[in-house]
Amino acid sequence: MSSALLSLTECIAPQLAAVERVFHDELKSDLSSVDTLVKHVSRFRGKMLRPTLLLLAGKACGELTDAHVTLATVVEMVHMATLVHDDVLDEAELRRKGATINHLRGNEAAVLLGDYLISHSYHLCSSLDSQLASRTIARTTNQVCEGELLQIDNRNNLNLDEETYIKIIARKTAVLCATCCFLGAHQSGASEEVCRKLESYGMCLGTAFQIQDDILDIVGDTSIVGKTLGIDIDKGKLTLPAIHFLRHAPQEHRALLRALLSGRDADKAEKIRNLIVPSDSIAYAQQRAKELIEQAQEELQCLPDSEPRRVLETMAHFVIARPM
Ligand code: IPE
Ligand code: IPE
Ligand code: MG
Ligand code: MG
Repeated sequence: MSSALLSLTECIAPQLAAVERVFHDELKSDLSSVDTLVKHVSRFRGKMLRPTLLLLAGKACGELTDAHVTLATVVEMVHMATLVHDDVLDEAELRRKGATINHLRGNEAAVLLGDYLISHSYHLCSSLDSQLASRTIARTTNQVCEGELLQIDNRNNLNLDEETYIKIIARKTAVLCATCCFLGAHQSGASEEVCRKLESYGMCLGTAFQIQDDILDIVGDTSIVGKTLGIDIDKGKLTLPAIHFLRHAPQEHRALLRALLSGRDADKAEKIRNLIVPSDSIAYAQQRAKELIEQAQEELQCLPDSEPRRVLETMAHFVIARPM
């Protein structure tokens, strides 16, 4: 986690440390071949955005318990499973400033490790004896798969519209953030109304987060972001800046982008970047993300003022302000 985020999340530091421990305990295996792979994924820590959201939502609505820590571990495990599989699909080599499993050990090991992670997330979640939690997590992973499948179905679709793009990212990314906030609040005994508002906060934040991630895939710096970039274009995934450009840029620029996207140019990604960056399509995507963040912050007004509520407000801002 970045130091700015670390200082923000001080109020949940003990629980975040506990998440690390539970994560380790749940995944360890007596088979050294399995343990080596698990150690590799746990060595490279990410931002812990999802456990952080769950714990902050829980703390903003009441007292944190061991069940919150378990759920926070479950959501990080689900997230990591999706990352390990996503890197296979994207043929990515770098993740969290380290080698991806597929790069290090091949696709077969990565697919199976992703399965191992998702299976352990359900195993851990079922230790809670909460049918609501288990069904919510399972419904969430169903939706993540649907989002990924819808994305594949739209590969190389140069007519992809913004509405379908939002539908894709809502399922593949935002629903997990929404579930984190919902479950954190629910576990603290919050009312149905407050749980739903927090869920909506997570949905807006998660959507903005993926828009920002998609912007970074075009304009970001690999050494800062820490993962392979330029993949979306390479894999025929149209994201918000390109979708906007294809509808609003001057006619000849649109034609140029269409030709580049359908071609096999060696420096395709760089040419596309040079075309999109000076246009106003990046700013448009940033503006969409900013509006979602404002909507997210609005949802928090159902909560009494508290430190965790203020951190949730700031976190929303962080998602779009920092190259995370
Ligand atoms: C990456 O998520 C995958 C997306 C949904 C864009 P994060 O950027 O939160 O990944 P880590 O956990 O910090 O590595
Ligand atoms: C997020 O999309 C995919 C998941 C929900 C796992 P990306 O493919 O953009 O994620 P990164 O950029 O590889 O982290
Ligand atoms: Mg990817
Ligand atoms: Mg990305």
